[in-house]
Amino acid sequence: MFPHHRPRRLRRTLAMRRLVAETSLEPRNLVLPMFIADGISEPRAISSMPGVYQHTTDTLLGAADEAVRAGVGGVMLFGVPRPEDKDARGSGGVDPDGVLNRALRSLSAELGDATVIMADTCLDEFTDHGHCGVLDEHGAVDNDATVQLYADMAVAQADAGAHILGPSGMMDGQVSAIRSALDAAGHHDVAQLAYAAKYASAFYGPFREAVGSSLQGDRRTYQQDPANRRESLREVDLDLVEGADMVMVKPAMSYLDVLRETADRSDVPVAAYQISGEYAMITAAAQNGWIDRDAAIMESLLCIRRAGADIVLTYWATEVAQRLG
Ligand code: PBG
Repeated sequence: MFPHHRPRRLRRTLAMRRLVAETSLEPRNLVLPMFIADGISEPRAISSMPGVYQHTTDTLLGAADEAVRAGVGGVMLFGVPRPEDKDARGSGGVDPDGVLNRALRSLSAELGDATVIMADTCLDEFTDHGHCGVLDEHGAVDNDATVQLYADMAVAQADAGAHILGPSGMMDGQVSAIRSALDAAGHHDVAQLAYAAKYASAFYGPFREAVGSSLQGDRRTYQQDPANRRESLREVDLDLVEGADMVMVKPAMSYLDVLRETADRSDVPVAAYQISGEYAMITAAAQNGWIDRDAAIMESLLCIRRAGADIVLTYWATEVAQRLG
């Protein structure tokens, strides 16, 4: 009459649940994405991401210090140039004196090897048209010309002190081109966290404000179609063959199936990016009193880990690391 098997026995107390939990979250699993802006004297709030700022060099160093003291695994830096410094080729990303490379040098001087310093290796913040690469005469993103610029950008970022580069532009062959350029420049030890499966997502909306993006249109000729699963496996395999040291799935929450399959397949560490729209949705619902903010944050991150992410990029990295203490 009564069940012999009662899974509830293992859920009875907090201590019991703690004993049998399969997945956990530690500060070292979390990476904090940060924005450094040129030409501002005070940090600038990002209205669609309450609590996230475009930093000045001073506040960047302060926030990075705080993140490291909280025990995060690393920081991922994005540059926001002044609008007048953007051009069609995104030169500011390659320029050693561009905002991102200057900030990497400051971070590296401040933190050294105390944390892992990562840099976004992509041109979209630096191009006046907002695309992740340069355009050909028809206005299409020119893959191979773009990849050459990524190679130069990668060397500049490695020269500036980045430990890991994050090529996020979804150009074919970007990982191998960057690897060759880094090696030729003597940066054998600088690693790549390849954005292997990156989808053209509506959930990047708030990030466009965060970096003052100039994009008109979309990125569907280079980022993946949300309809596709198998294509991600191909992208991951290609990046592994090209020499990726880690692979990433992005966004996270709507793509947990892709994350699981990537984790099952990959023999290198797997990251997932809880992106701006995911941050904004939880923040907005919590501000309306519709969900419990802290519980929703912890659950979202735990579930991304459960789906297979060793590393999670999240704008809550410092806060959650502090809470996990
Ligand atoms: C492009 C890039 C984007 C994000 C990270 N790198 C935007 C895009 O692809 O349009 C999005 C991150 C986020 O939404 O939090 N270099």
